[in-house]
Amino acid sequence: MASTIYLALPFALVLLSISLRVSALSLNYYDQTCPKAESIVKNIVRKAMRNDRTVPSALLRMHFHDCFIRGCDASVLLNSTTKNTAEKDGPPNISLHAFYVIDLVKKQVEALCPGVVSCADILAVAARDAVSLSGGPTWNVPKGRKDGRVSIATDTRQLPAPTFNISQLQQSFSQRGLSMDDLVALSGGHTLGFSHCSSFQNRIHNFDATNDVDSSLQPSFAASLRRVCPVHNKVKNAGATMDSSATTFDNMYYKLLVQGKSLFSSDQALLTSTRTKALVSKFASSQQEFEAAFVESMIKMSSITGGQEVRLDCRVVN
Ligand code: HEM
Ligand SMILES: *[C@@H]1O[C@H](CO)[C@@H](O)[C@H](O)[C@H]1NC(C)=O
Ligand SMILES: *[C@@H]1O[C@H](CO)[C@@H](O)[C@H](O)[C@H]1NC(C)=O
Ligand SMILES: *[C@@H]1O[C@H](CO)[C@@H](O)[C@H](O)[C@H]1NC(C)=O
Repeated sequence: MASTIYLALPFALVLLSISLRVSALSLNYYDQTCPKAESIVKNIVRKAMRNDRTVPSALLRMHFHDCFIRGCDASVLLNSTTKNTAEKDGPPNISLHAFYVIDLVKKQVEALCPGVVSCADILAVAARDAVSLSGGPTWNVPKGRKDGRVSIATDTRQLPAPTFNISQLQQSFSQRGLSMDDLVALSGGHTLGFSHCSSFQNRIHNFDATNDVDSSLQPSFAASLRRVCPVHNKVKNAGATMDSSATTFDNMYYKLLVQGKSLFSSDQALLTSTRTKALVSKFASSQQEFEAAFVESMIKMSSITGGQEVRLDCRVVN
């Protein structure tokens, strides 16, 4: 019995190290093959932000969507074809935009180092730059992702919905190897950007059999959301900013969340379990603790890999 374990253990370790090496990402992945790749991403993101303040939130959300469907393999960037409707044309694509920023980077990087830098890596680095150029933390992004060849509109049903409760959120994250702590930290991405009325409609009209409005919403905040988003909303693209400082990456999201001023049921749900609630309070009182946790969880999320090739055009498979 004992000897079987002695024999099996080194064998298992060899197998484990092989499988890790195959999918492993590294910080210096492009050092020899395209050393300028990251500075190109940063310069283009910085310039794009100057013209369009919605670029950072768009890039961060795009990376999250990418990683949650088939791993971070740039499947979110693929165009639909005559035979296939792609993820970006799937139902919850409502806030996806700024694909042109990735195209601009890809063009410049291809001119310098053809066929080397994956679209999935470009997106991961761009999401990091979006955060740091918005006043958030910076970190080293492990690289070496490959781009996938598949993007299917109906796969977007696998994304967590804003109506999810804590157990549904936990399930969605754990299926991707992410913990409850990751859930709380990554939800802090909701410090940037904008939401359409449809995403929080459930909380402000016809909430349940007894209440028109979700009673966990702070009353005057709920009233302001109802003014912007009436039942028969006729204003195209009506909605609300994710927090009161939506172009700055800070811990305001958590400060407002504890006051009942979050947009989604999925945000509010973070206050319904003891562990997640404690983390929300910690992040609400410490920007530093939030940033450290966000960085750790972003690296985890962005290391879910899945692709096979380095696409030459981020919108079409090779
Ligand atoms: C926990 C599960 C999550 C749910 C249910 C969720 C849901 C949503 C919804 C419904 C919107 C608004 C879409 C619209 O109406 O335009 C949104 C926006 C956004 N989400 Fe999340 N999200 C989640 C996690 C994340 C994560 C992990 C990140 C990144 C770390 C993220 C970053 C963003 C950003 C930046 C926006 C604003 C997009 C923009 O302004 O264009 N979200 N999210
Ligand atoms: C992808 O779709 C966009 C928007 O529909 C279009 O402008 C672009 O030319 C397409 N790119 C490719 C390579 O098909
Ligand atoms: C979202 O999907 C609709 C069709 O479902 C499509 O017309 C629209 O262009 C898509 N938006 C983006 C940003 O790709
Ligand atoms: C969350 O929603 C699911 C599906 O509606 C339900 O089965 C579950 O009991 C809910 N969990 C909590 C904690 O409310």
